Amino acid sequence: MSTSSAAPSTALPGGTWALGDLTVTRFGYGAMQLAGPGVMGPPADHDGALAVLREAVDLGITHIDTAGAYGPRVTNRLIREALHPFPASLHIVTKVGAERDGQGGWPPARRPEQLRRAVHENLEDLGLDALDVVHLRLSDAQGPRPGSLAEPFEALAELRRQGLIRHLGVSNATAEQVAEAREIAPIVSVQNLYNLAHRHDDDLIDDLAAEGIAYVPFFPLGGFTPLQSSALTAVATRLDATPMSVALAWLLRRSPNILLIPGTSSVAHLRENITGAGLTLSDEDVTELDKIGT
Ligand SMILES: NC(=O)c1ccc[n+]([C@@H]2O[C@H](COP(=O)([O-])OP(=O)(O)OC[C@H]3O[C@@H](n4cnc5c(N)ncnc54)[C@H](OP(=O)(O)O)[C@@H]3O)[C@@H](O)[C@H]2O)c1
Repeated sequence: MSTSSAAPSTALPGGTWALGDLTVTRFGYGAMQLAGPGVMGPPADHDGALAVLREAVDLGITHIDTAGAYGPRVTNRLIREALHPFPASLHIVTKVGAERDGQGGWPPARRPEQLRRAVHENLEDLGLDALDVVHLRLSDAQGPRPGSLAEPFEALAELRRQGLIRHLGVSNATAEQVAEAREIAPIVSVQNLYNLAHRHDDDLIDDLAAEGIAYVPFFPLGGFTPLQSSALTAVATRLDATPMSVALAWLLRRSPNILLIPGTSSVAHLRENITGAGLTLSDEDVTELDKIGT
């Protein structure tokens, strides 16, 4: 991206990770919560949303996760308004493959012409000539489902060859779909639901780490339903920390290829989460926390 040549911060908890040739801080920011209720429409507090984005970058975050479907077209435009022209160190990661209906649903939009349109809308809304990373969002809100991704992923691979996309990833994907994608084009990341309480991807995370591919858990704090567990509360109380801090610190420790994109619409929570993710967990804490997951 354009203007500044500021180096990515290594001061944030977790240091940095390479998404292909792009260096990002492992502590990133998820922009979904900046849209209106139900991720539809504009935020209640427009200036507050801009302030959160600016604070994220001021604090050294160089990875912002977004999607054209958020709003729809709301969070991308907020990101542009708050931060354009983007610092050279900032990398904006987006998703295509779903759109929004009048009821706030997320119907699939994975036909090649829908994907091309979505990529062009992302470029326009973000004010970019090329998108740093684009994830193909598969399945639906119920989680990953088996099935070939060849047609949509080949369409994105073609857009990458044309120079509109630098790197590809997949989201809501099974291990088989990850493998199928990699036969079509290189991927730099997988974005799936994962947190202390939802650990179905444990094997996938380890396999991706061995291949140098990032795993980006969405809903790291539980999403719309905050993580709750007596073991989490017990560890947090013992460490005089919040459950959110423990959940984020646990993810950073879980594997070096895990990148954090916790969402918040609050500058205070953003700061709190960065500090919290720097918490040091002992082996005993981790053993106790590992009992939570399924
Ligand atoms: N690939 C996909 O299909 C997919 C699906 C969902 C999400 N995502 C991405 O993943 C990102 C993260 O998911 P998410 O934002 O939905 O869920 P999340 O990060 O697990 O949790 C966000 C929620 O936690 C609250 N929160 C954050 N920090 C807090 C703190 N310190 N104290 C109290 N509450 C706090 C936020 O409320 P406040 O606003 O009040 O802080 C918000 O309601 C999204 O922003 C999006 O970019 C991707």
